[in-house]
Amino acid sequence: MSENTNPRTQTEPQTETATTETDQPLTTTTGETDEQAQDEWTEYEFAGEAKMTVEDLDVHYGDDHALKGVSMEIPEKSVTALIGPSGCGKSTYLRCLNRMNDRIKSADVDGSVRLDGEEIYQDGVNLVELRKRVGMVFQSPNPFPKSIRENIAYGPKKHGDLDTGLLARLLNRSDAEERDRLVERCLRDAALWDEVSDRLDDNALGLSGGQQQRLCIARCLSVDPEIILMDEPASALDPIATAKIEDLIDDLSEEYTVVIVTHNMQQAARISDQTAVFLTGGELVEYGETDQVFENPRSERVEDYITGKFG
Ligand SMILES: Nc1ncnc2c1ncn2[C@@H]1O[C@H](COP(=O)(O)OP(=O)(O)O)[C@@H](O)[C@H]1O
Ligand SMILES: [Mg+2]
Repeated sequence: MSENTNPRTQTEPQTETATTETDQPLTTTTGETDEQAQDEWTEYEFAGEAKMTVEDLDVHYGDDHALKGVSMEIPEKSVTALIGPSGCGKSTYLRCLNRMNDRIKSADVDGSVRLDGEEIYQDGVNLVELRKRVGMVFQSPNPFPKSIRENIAYGPKKHGDLDTGLLARLLNRSDAEERDRLVERCLRDAALWDEVSDRLDDNALGLSGGQQQRLCIARCLSVDPEIILMDEPASALDPIATAKIEDLIDDLSEEYTVVIVTHNMQQAARISDQTAVFLTGGELVEYGETDQVFENPRSERVEDYITGKFG
């Protein structure tokens, strides 16, 4: 996208700043007008495909305008971090990516989100299928009060992927064997297998917090997602459990597109390929390669935020 295709930069300077002749636009130390300095630095160019394309996304909760005109392309098979002060709309944004906000009565979502080029905000989209493709892991681990094995097998069973059994029968395997293969594969992929392989029938609630969170990730993997959304997945965990989740996210990004909200800037810097900074008021202010955003942010407001001057 080139600059002059952005309707915001075309229209706002005249309407906002040049109302009277004496009302000169403020300039910053870098010589930009105040308007330009506050503009969004979000035109991140990357090699490869966009898995999701978000355009002009607005979310209101009643009169509260929580997300303002957010546009952003999310590259496939990489880690995208969303950072910003509390209440700036990170969770709201994340929930837009699999239409989880549909469940919140007061939430009014406007704009476009495309997954592999297909609009997810249109009539006829199957939300169960969408949330299979775009899975979600929450801040507090929320395993079902069932066995470890059942936690993993639950989703595929519900979606009928384990009950058809045709392939299994052709290969002369029972549904139970098929299920156990799936359980093992998901637990291995979530780096949990070695710790739980001898107690798959134990209740999942007996696991430690970090193990429960990896179980939730394994459960998310069991329905074969393409995108994994994570909302502060390590904020309730100790440093060792956090490090395991961070290593896991790095591995997952080889096969999956990961979008993670974190309030921990060091964590974003460690694990992500690109970082989006939201600031108070629900604006996406800067989006770019993680090293660039942290070492050389283009927005002064973002620089103030990441150097700890506010937020
Ligand atoms: N379910 C909801 N109902 C009403 N307002 C909400 C709801 N969820 C979030 N908000 C409001 O939207 C804004 C953004 O919240 P949120 O997306 O949770 O921010 P963050 O995750 O960055 O802390 C806040 O002002 C918050 O109060
Ligand atoms: Mg949040």
